[in-house]
Amino acid sequence: MDRIRIVGGHKLKGTIPISGAKNAALPLMIASLLTRDTLTLKNVPNLADVNLLARILRNHGVDHMVDGKRGGPSHQGETYHFTARDIVDTTAPYEMVSRMRASFWVIGPLLARMGQAKVSLPGGCAIGTRPVDLHLQGLKALGADIVIDAGYVVAKAPKGGLIGNRVTFPKVSVGATHNVLMAAALAKGETVIENAAREPEVGDVADCLVKMGAKIEGIGSSTLRVQGRTQLEGAVHTVVADRIETGTFAMAVAATGGDVVLEGARADLLENALQVLEKCGVTVTRQENGIRIQRNGAGLEPVSIETQPFPGFPTDLQAQMMALMAKAKGTSVIRETIFENRFMHVQELARLGCDIQLNGDTASIRGVTMLKGAPVMATDLRASVSLVIAGLTAEGETTVNRVYHLDRGFERLEEKLSRCGAEIERLASG
Ligand code: EPZ
Repeated sequence: MDRIRIVGGHKLKGTIPISGAKNAALPLMIASLLTRDTLTLKNVPNLADVNLLARILRNHGVDHMVDGKRGGPSHQGETYHFTARDIVDTTAPYEMVSRMRASFWVIGPLLARMGQAKVSLPGGCAIGTRPVDLHLQGLKALGADIVIDAGYVVAKAPKGGLIGNRVTFPKVSVGATHNVLMAAALAKGETVIENAAREPEVGDVADCLVKMGAKIEGIGSSTLRVQGRTQLEGAVHTVVADRIETGTFAMAVAATGGDVVLEGARADLLENALQVLEKCGVTVTRQENGIRIQRNGAGLEPVSIETQPFPGFPTDLQAQMMALMAKAKGTSVIRETIFENRFMHVQELARLGCDIQLNGDTASIRGVTMLKGAPVMATDLRASVSLVIAGLTAEGETTVNRVYHLDRGFERLEEKLSRCGAEIERLASG
């Protein structure tokens, strides 16, 4: 298995191009199930999760083509064409869904277009229990008959197809919003989704559905009003910039010091996190071509934050923020309110010398003057990259194991960082 080797202590200087968002690309790919026509997606990041989902979709009968040579030097992302002319299989097996939870989201589109779907329950997850009850609640409201049988969700639409309805989520869920939104686009009549997730990736999917012919009002708000259509058409859509990748690199620069322009980043997608960085003493300049992050020699101020659905501080930046606070001039407090087990990085950060006390959903991070490199590993994507950030500021050598987690969600991470002066390389497994 590959590892990442980092020698810490270098300031970051230069430009980092921001990729298309993984968490938008995945549901956009799934939206291709809603039409017989071709859905062209531009700026798709070259990630393990994207490749895996393309394989999963192929099982259902979705053909895909990629423009040009894959994995070339371009930082513009890939252009993919997805065509679900004939859906050949409405079952998503356990072997697939257990490898990528987001593939559970095929259930809404398959049910809406084919009238039936059998999708494996995703099973356990390193960051929390992550049930799918809200997805099922929403689909039932649209008239689906749902039973759980031998680890599978078996769903059937009424004879004439799904029927629009009011869906009020008791809790904000990104995935359940994606699922019900996609299903509603092909349901009869109007669906109103209340307490919908407002994450920019939901807005990006909604924008794409509109290009495909769906009628959706309230995009970006917590009430989505969808007029269902009997069929949707093909479209061309560019995947929105990755706000989590943006925040991660911003925190890396804040941690090491330096001056980096995050090219193509959109400040409006992560204002909350940018304001937290400003409170810490980081200079954030919102520019036309992206965001410039600067920190000179001054130390970082500690902060208190809690994760919240958008527009709050994202849970997907919590681990990175903790790594950043490891060397702040005092004690920071981070409360995780979205996932109950998203602190797997704490023990690994401790191996590098971080002083973190955990109490239920709250972590207190006492800033230390020095971190020391060590071998570390993590159990999820964002936790792994928090170790990279800590490694960049640690004295000596850090090796991050289980790099496949990083490859799921960060495109050319080591290349983007080393171009800005980081001493970081991938060690291929021998
Ligand atoms: C999405 O996961 C993201 N994944 C996650 O990013 C992200 O952390 C999360 O949203 C929150 O922002 C993708 O977009 C592919 P949720 P999702 O449904 O949709 C509970 C990353 O690192 N819940 O918004 O699965 C759930 O347990 C990943 O890129 C229910 O109770 O998250 C959690 O506590 C990790 N019942 C909360 O809601 C349900 O039916 C929010 O989860 C569904 C969710």
